Amino acid sequence: MTRGAKQRASEIDLRIGDIRLPPPPTALHAVAALSTTPAPLVPPAGLTTTRERLSRHFTRHIWHATPDQVVVCAGATSAAAALITAWTRPGDTILVPDPGFPGHRHVVEALSRKPLNYPVPEPSGDWLMRLDSLADKAQALIWLSPNNPTGEVPLEADCRAVAEIAARRGLFLISDEVHHDLIWEGTHASPLPFAHPDRRAAVWSASKSLRLAGWRVGCAVCSPKSANRIARTVGALTVAASLPAQVACNAAVDDYDAVLRQSRDHVLPNLQYAVDVLHPLVVMPRSGVCLWVDISVTNLSSGEFALLCRERSGLRVWPGDRFGPAGAQHVRICLGLPEDMAKRAVHRLVELLRPYGAGDLTISGKEEERDH
Ligand SMILES: Cc1ncc(COP(=O)(O)O)c(C=O)c1O
Repeated sequence: MTRGAKQRASEIDLRIGDIRLPPPPTALHAVAALSTTPAPLVPPAGLTTTRERLSRHFTRHIWHATPDQVVVCAGATSAAAALITAWTRPGDTILVPDPGFPGHRHVVEALSRKPLNYPVPEPSGDWLMRLDSLADKAQALIWLSPNNPTGEVPLEADCRAVAEIAARRGLFLISDEVHHDLIWEGTHASPLPFAHPDRRAAVWSASKSLRLAGWRVGCAVCSPKSANRIARTVGALTVAASLPAQVACNAAVDDYDAVLRQSRDHVLPNLQYAVDVLHPLVVMPRSGVCLWVDISVTNLSSGEFALLCRERSGLRVWPGDRFGPAGAQHVRICLGLPEDMAKRAVHRLVELLRPYGAGDLTISGKEEERDH
C-alpha cells in the first residue's frame, strides 16, 4: 500500500451527519419481501400507506396533519427543492439561517434563487429585528427547528415570532424539522401552528433517527392545495420517491419507538464523551448528532483548520463557513460513528489542539493507547 493509500485508509470521516448503524431490521425485511411482487410506479405524492403513516407520525410528534397534506419525497432536501420550485421563481430571494444546513443553500442556488443569510436566535432578540428588516427583500424563509450545525432548539416564542414575520411579509415558510426527535435538552417547537395556512410547510426525513439516509425518503407537509402542487412538481422532477424507500419508511415508522431508542442510545454516549474531553471548546448540543467546535483558540480560519485536521490527524471535518459566514470560527464534527471510532477521532482532535493550549484537554493514558 502506498503512503497516501495508507493515510486514506486510516482517515475518519466526521463530515456526514448520519447515525452509522444499519437500517432498522424491520425495514430490511419489508424491502426483502418486495422481491416476490411486481414493482409498479408510485403516485407522485407517494404511496397511500406512506402518506397515512407519515400523517399519523407527524400528528403524534410535530403537528396535526392529514394524509392529503403529505407529499413523500426523496428526502427532506428533495422536499425543500420541490417547495421552492413550486412556490418561488428564479431570481427570488430566500432567507436561510446562518449558520445553517448547507444543503438548503445549495438547493436555493441550484434553482437560481438567491440565498440571503439571517442570524439564528440569540437571547438579546436582535436577530429578530435583523430578520424583520431582511424579510421585505425575500419571498420565502427556511427555518431550522432544531438547528444543524449548532444543535440549538428554538423556543416556541421564537417559532411564533418567525411565523408572524413570515405571515406579515407574505413569505412562504419552510420549517425543517428533521432533528425533532434527536433533542437532548429542551422541547421541540414548530412555527407551523402560528404560520399562514397556505404559506407554510414542514420538511421531514427518514435519514436521521430512522437511519435510511441512503435510501432517500422524507416528506413535505403543507396545505392540501399546496400538496397537490408539490406533488405535480415531484412528478415532473423525479416521478416519485422510490417504492422500496417508501416501504422501508413504513416499516421503520411502524417500529418507531424501538428504532428511535436504538439511534439515540448509539449517539448520546459519543456526544457526552466528546464534550467531556473537548470542553470548553464544545458544549453539549441540545440536539442532533454533531458538535460545533469552536476553533478560535487556533487563530486559523475554519478552512485552514479543516485542512490541518486532514493532513495531521486523518480527520475529515466540515469547515464552519460551509454553514454560512457565521461559522468562520468553527468546524462541525459528526459523532454518529461506532463508539471506538468516535473516541479515536476525539483523541486525535485533542492531540491536534493541545499545542494551542486549548483549555484542559485530557484523556486517560489507557484510552489514548487505543489509537496507536
Ligand atoms: C437540518 C437538515 N435538514 C435536512 C437534511 C437532509 O435530509 P435528507 O437526507 O432527508 O435530504 C439534513 C442532513 O444532514 C439536515 O441536517
